[in-house]
Amino acid sequence: MKMTENPLKLKRLHHVEFLVGNAKQAAFFYHKAFGFRVEAYAGLETGRRDLSSYVLKQGNATFVVSTPLSSSGDMSEHIRRHGDGARDIAFEVEDVDRAFAYAVSQGAQEAVRPRTLSDAMGTIRHAAIRSYGDTIHSLISRESYNGPFLPGYEVAVRESTGACIVSVDHIVGNVELGKMNYWAEWYSRVLGFHRYLTFDDRDISTEYSALMSIVMSNEAAALKMPINEPAPGRKKSQIQEYLDFYQGPGVQHIALLTEDIIGTVEVLRTNGVSFLKVPDSYYEILPQRVGAIKEDLKEIRRLGILVDRDQEGYLLQIFTEPVEDRPTLFYEIIQRAGSRGFGKGNFRALFEAIEREQARRGNL
Ligand code: FE2
Repeated sequence: MKMTENPLKLKRLHHVEFLVGNAKQAAFFYHKAFGFRVEAYAGLETGRRDLSSYVLKQGNATFVVSTPLSSSGDMSEHIRRHGDGARDIAFEVEDVDRAFAYAVSQGAQEAVRPRTLSDAMGTIRHAAIRSYGDTIHSLISRESYNGPFLPGYEVAVRESTGACIVSVDHIVGNVELGKMNYWAEWYSRVLGFHRYLTFDDRDISTEYSALMSIVMSNEAAALKMPINEPAPGRKKSQIQEYLDFYQGPGVQHIALLTEDIIGTVEVLRTNGVSFLKVPDSYYEILPQRVGAIKEDLKEIRRLGILVDRDQEGYLLQIFTEPVEDRPTLFYEIIQRAGSRGFGKGNFRALFEAIEREQARRGNL
């Protein structure tokens, strides 16, 4: 495998920020349903007049949910157009100015020029570039910052017993028909990701609909970013349903890595999180399809977890229903036992389950 050059010197995924209609309630959802601990807050009480924002953390996964406090400005426009959704996939970098200059030299569009942000706890550098749709990548260097998150945020801890989530495994984007290769090439040229896997419409199709996907990977940031586009089929692709309701490209799903998927899904189900259902027939042929696994198949079946095996090992995964009223962003919970894949053997069962939901929504 070709070594990634990592020209922007990405160090890690810093956080994912969601713009939402009601940040207080979104924070409550991620805290109570997904087991994130609330760690920091910015809003009127901390001197911000423009937004309310909550920082949630579980393992190495950091989510930020933010809402504007007025109807003017980019944040409000984002929510008006897209509904609740992921706006910013933020990376920590060694040197914001150099990373930003390089990205722009490679054709990235500016979102925020490099600037210094500070408060009593110290200073950071921040800039941002535009990715697909209205999604941006913030570039952050923390230098000697000592606060709970970024300047302007104050400590606001609400503990959680958690759900065994350890990190973000991958973040999937949906783009328009014909744009997948453009964005794969963009991630390669601008952010130094390399092409890790490609799925065509023969891999990902059902009787009715299809999609294509290129998985881009950056080892330094330990992040994979698959990019999907709809493929023509007899009925509407789930990717097209997303594009129609998000009103453009955006983040389709975020996969959260766990080392105990049975424990995680048990907690999430108890907390009221809804998952896609696969038919019983999926479990009847499962043992012959994947062979021996460490986990109890009865538990796997009871919780509706999917299993797939490849040359390197196996993985366990499950997908939530969309977490907002528009059929847009959803979550995947994934546990890896050797496999670095994406559950290709589950695509058909999974997409048929999605299509049943699409049909119920009148969108197939
Ligand atoms: Fe996924």
